[in-house]
Amino acid sequence: MSKQKVEIERRRTFAVIAHPDAGKTTLTEKLLLFGGAIQVAGAVKSNKIKKSTTSDFMEIEKQRGISVATSVMGFVYKDKQVNILDTPGHKDFAEDTYRTLTAVDSVIVVIDVAKGVEAQTEKLVEVCRMRDTPVIVFINKMDREGKDGFDLLDEIEEKLGLRVCPLTWPIGMGQEFKGVYNMYEQKMNLFAPNTKYGNVMEFEDLDNPDLEKHVGEDAANELREDVETLNEVYPKFDHSEYVKGKLSPVFFGSAVNNFGVKEMLDCFVGIAPSPTTYLTEERIIDPFDSKFTGFVFKIHANMDPRHRDRIAFMRVCSGIFKRNTNYLHVRKAKKMKFSNPTSFMAARKEVLEEAFPGDIVGLYDSGNFKIGDSLTEGEQLHFKGIPSFSPEMFKYIENADPMKSKQLAKGIRQLMDEGVAQLFVKNNNGRKIIGTVGQLQFEVLQYRLQHEYGAKCRYEPIMLFKACWITSENTEQLDLFRRKKVNYMAKDKEDRDVYLAESSWMLQTAQADYPDIQFHFTSEF
Ligand code: G4P
Repeated sequence: MSKQKVEIERRRTFAVIAHPDAGKTTLTEKLLLFGGAIQVAGAVKSNKIKKSTTSDFMEIEKQRGISVATSVMGFVYKDKQVNILDTPGHKDFAEDTYRTLTAVDSVIVVIDVAKGVEAQTEKLVEVCRMRDTPVIVFINKMDREGKDGFDLLDEIEEKLGLRVCPLTWPIGMGQEFKGVYNMYEQKMNLFAPNTKYGNVMEFEDLDNPDLEKHVGEDAANELREDVETLNEVYPKFDHSEYVKGKLSPVFFGSAVNNFGVKEMLDCFVGIAPSPTTYLTEERIIDPFDSKFTGFVFKIHANMDPRHRDRIAFMRVCSGIFKRNTNYLHVRKAKKMKFSNPTSFMAARKEVLEEAFPGDIVGLYDSGNFKIGDSLTEGEQLHFKGIPSFSPEMFKYIENADPMKSKQLAKGIRQLMDEGVAQLFVKNNNGRKIIGTVGQLQFEVLQYRLQHEYGAKCRYEPIMLFKACWITSENTEQLDLFRRKKVNYMAKDKEDRDVYLAESSWMLQTAQADYPDIQFHFTSEF
């Protein structure tokens, strides 16, 4: 078998996603501990600013520094190369997470047993569903009182639109939490708070009276009943359905107590897909292709504002990426080679000689890259599926220092390329509108414009409900729409038509009045 094939098949590139506070950081840390990537708990703990609701720029800056360092967390577990892509903890930076999800082959969703499915989880899983990304669900905090297991499974199916298949099942909960039964391997893991990962024993036959000895009579009976119901109601695990994103295994545990995590990790490395195909406008990219291709999904400005260098994070999609080799930057039609391609593995920077599909490479960049850019060995390829989402908050951005208008324009352009926020320019008067998913993005933009570009901006309110991309094959209707709605039309940074709806009523009326026009809520259509 070729080296490339071996390396592809042993890679597991994924992200952990969750609503803030569900336990993403804790779970990630436990996975890293199991994988030997860190030695002590607490190493990734500080990677969040979610608790600062007011803006704290030092915290934002600190976060940027930390998140570069933990952009990819990698370790070898059971001979598999596990790459965990970090996603920001703060919901205001959800757009970064959406983009990161385009660079993974699967995800683990963490859900708090007491809170159930929360808003942010719904949005993130929706992005996964758009791309049929395989999802594993981890229900966390079983050491606390929470919702009934069956109710949670219903909620996951309804709100997240996932077909579920529980592979472990809790025995009790909260104070009465006794452990989990692993239906997949027919083992029982009894909860013992101070052990490395509980007390695991083979337990094939639940009718065995030993069950009472371990968990007590009530819990034993309940478990038997539950498992019977589960077997009747839920589908058996089917690997091909899972890798198609059509069936989601569910695990229960307590990340902070290191419980139920190993079961999931063992199963994960066994079933999670290795790097799969990617869609480009021109053709499907197979990871096993001999020629290298990759795309940029995230750009990080460097910490030092005096040097405007940045790090572009590229996912390798096919072939082997090699240091000091000429590649084509397709959008710029420019040959580039990289002398210091870097892996950012859990705070350890290392220069890479080569990288395989599923790997993430950090490329030092002086402003050449935009999100979505592709690198190839010469072929013209444009990757699909790196969407912008319709923002939820809008403000006019104005120049607050007339002497610095050039700096402002440049700053806005570069920061938009980096994906800090979205820019729309109104057709009727050329005013610029910034769209975001969270308030903090406005503040980060303003702060960075000032500190990195010496430009000052101020925001003015605008009443806007939604910005959506419009297309139609009916060019007559499209022209009419553009004319009639001229005051509500704008262009995005790719010069595409965007309709700015002031209210949900306006949007609905427009949709009803112009049936041949498609209104898109992501830029990828
Ligand atoms: P996030 O990254 O998804 O935002 O969540 P994070 O891991 O930071 O966890 C949020 C809180 O939930 C933390 O408590 C963490 O200790 C706690 N937690 C995580 N897993 C479990 C679990 O299995 N059981 C229980 N009971 N709690 C859990 P915190 O008070 O916010 O932080 P800390 O002071 O404990 O560090």
